[in-house]
Amino acid sequence: MTPITPPAGIAGIAGITGTAGTAGTAGTTEAADASEFAGKVALVTGAARGVGKETVALLHARGARVVAVDLRPDVRTLPDEFPGVLPMTGDITQEETAARAVQSAVDTFGGLDVLVNNAGRTLNKPVTETTAEDWDAVMAVNARGSFFFAREAFRAMNARGGGAIVSTGSYTCTVALPEGAAYSASKGALAQLTKVLAVEGGPLGIRANIVAAGVIETDFLDTFRTDSRAYLASFADAQPLGRVAQPEEIAEVLCFLASPRAAFITGAVLAADGGFTAV
Ligand SMILES: NC(=O)c1ccc[n+]([C@@H]2O[C@H](COP(=O)([O-])OP(=O)(O)OC[C@H]3O[C@@H](n4cnc5c(N)ncnc54)[C@H](O)[C@@H]3O)[C@@H](O)[C@H]2O)c1
Repeated sequence: MTPITPPAGIAGIAGITGTAGTAGTAGTTEAADASEFAGKVALVTGAARGVGKETVALLHARGARVVAVDLRPDVRTLPDEFPGVLPMTGDITQEETAARAVQSAVDTFGGLDVLVNNAGRTLNKPVTETTAEDWDAVMAVNARGSFFFAREAFRAMNARGGGAIVSTGSYTCTVALPEGAAYSASKGALAQLTKVLAVEGGPLGIRANIVAAGVIETDFLDTFRTDSRAYLASFADAQPLGRVAQPEEIAEVLCFLASPRAAFITGAVLAADGGFTAV
């Protein structure tokens, strides 16, 4: 997706802004150690594009060996940009996909240290128009599939003595998206799952956290709305920072929570939403 105003990297980011301009245009990747994930193995779902792809990029740049999973066949091109990344096509709603992905990490790279549960799908429909199929389809990706990956990761991480699970949640982990019953419920479920993972994982050395992301400038909404750009722009003014997020900014928060810098953070629902839910 070409940003409405092209971003110039994380620092000095532009993109979709509100009418009052951008207050928070900083952000930096420079603080993180380039070898922060050296020797670590990470698995990222929804890795072909958007937040997932940016997370693969950061983990790869910081030394991790990465398994990248997505429904989209173009996930297979990731090694062209990020040599050594192991791509895998698969539907995360299937238990078999989670088992296969985690086993690939173990067989190819020797284990698993970081799971990024990022794949997601959305739906914009009023409550009365939301069908059983709609509900199940959204819950299957955002809640059920994320659970399958967390369960498989728990087993592999336990064998390794610990690890970190991070999930891409949404502000809908805590507040409502109008005409988003299934989406809001699924992200709420994912936040609650995260807390259980943190409680059960603590004694095993496994941390679990979720990023309650604000609106992000990706292609996420394109399948569901013909007016996705205008819809995204309509959110910019609702943010105290006056803009929506760039995907690399959310990837940065996911990587922070997965890193040793967040060693004492577990069970957290961390807002990265430009202040949207502070109002
Ligand atoms: N874009 C936003 O405004 C926004 C806001 C808050 C949270 N989020 C969350 O961020 C995460 C990433 O979204 P994004 O904005 O980068 O969107 P995106 O559509 O660019 O990326 C999502 C990826 O997940 C993959 N995916 C979807 N269903 C899958 C399945 N069943 N199996 C395997 N892969 C599957 C898609 O193919 C896609 O590559 C999602 O969990 C989303 O809910 C997005």
